Amino acid sequence: MDILGIETSCDETAAAVVRDGREVLSDVVFTQIPLHRPYGGVVPEIASRAHVEKISQVVGEAMRRAPRPVDAVAVTYGPGLAPALVVGINAAKGLAKALGVPLIGINHLEAHLHSPFLHDAGDAAAAASPGPADACPALGLVVSGGNTVWVDMPRPGEYEVVGETLDDAAGEAFDKAAKTLGLGYPGGLKMDRIASAWIAEGGRDLIPFPKGRPRDGVTALAGLPAELCVSFSGLKTALLRHVKANPSLVESREGERDFGGFAVTPEVARVVASYQEAIAQALADRTRAALRRRPRRSFVLGGGVSLNSRIRAVLADVCAEAGTTLFMAKPKYTGDNGAMVAGLAFTWRNRADGAMSLDATPSLEIGG
Ligand code: KG4
Repeated sequence: MDILGIETSCDETAAAVVRDGREVLSDVVFTQIPLHRPYGGVVPEIASRAHVEKISQVVGEAMRRAPRPVDAVAVTYGPGLAPALVVGINAAKGLAKALGVPLIGINHLEAHLHSPFLHDAGDAAAAASPGPADACPALGLVVSGGNTVWVDMPRPGEYEVVGETLDDAAGEAFDKAAKTLGLGYPGGLKMDRIASAWIAEGGRDLIPFPKGRPRDGVTALAGLPAELCVSFSGLKTALLRHVKANPSLVESREGERDFGGFAVTPEVARVVASYQEAIAQALADRTRAALRRRPRRSFVLGGGVSLNSRIRAVLADVCAEAGTTLFMAKPKYTGDNGAMVAGLAFTWRNRADGAMSLDATPSLEIGG
């Protein structure tokens, strides 16, 4: 069964055709990052307008590259930015009607948890690798620009949130730090490259930034156990304090040289590596606790921040210690894409009834 997946929840206009939930037959992503960069973050009105301008071209291209007409259309209906979501939903409704095929509504976060199971067309080895049904029961972590959430998945399509961030998502924590350090937007990938280069040079002397532990009592609000939740507000404050105490970090360019393709001073690179380490250790620590409380066959990792090399490495160690198989998305499927939407829709293929009344649901929850 070939399904077209459409994704417009934030700043990527994306569409893909996926066969039987895993084999990616076409995959087109138009990223709006350059449009939002001057504003230091995603501007919903600009996102919406850019989706309107690009959606026909992106969807058309994905369908042209697929070998035959699709059997269903799937679309992200939340969570995300309302004016962005409606563009994808309206396009999907029109297309499903015109083609006379079912429409399937997909939760963006659940789709990220499907991304590790996608493979390229014709990749026989990947096709033979375990799929979602073999991986479950599993624990999952979606770590992106808008979310950091741990999820229990007893069976494909069944989700229970077991931990989450109480304030910023890990991606936001990266992006805000990059802004503070004058590294531009978005900052995650840049910080990853700078930190890797600093460590490769033998950098060892990390600044002990706080590791994302929520303040006592705060988790009662979310109703989730403290040891499975993170809070990045203390980390951000620690960085601001550090910069205030060391103003030359952002005021002087003296001594800048290349770290991973970016010109920064060794001291800025050290701060970046230390900050990244604090986030990586926060995620590792909560994941260890989650696997202790709920030992599962697999751990499934998705979302834009899951591209981070240090986070991938520390979570691989945590899973090895726990005897849990780790499934991570291929780099090209870590960010927002249509393939994860089309892929997950195969699980929901018998639930298309009534989807024509689908509405954008900006704060849709996992399992909601
Ligand atoms: O999943 P995504 O494309 O969008 C959302 O749905 O949120 O994630 C974007 C986020 C941004 O915050 C970006 O800075 C971060 O992912 N990011 C990274 C890396 N690559 C992207 N963060 C850390 N390390 C990376 N290599």
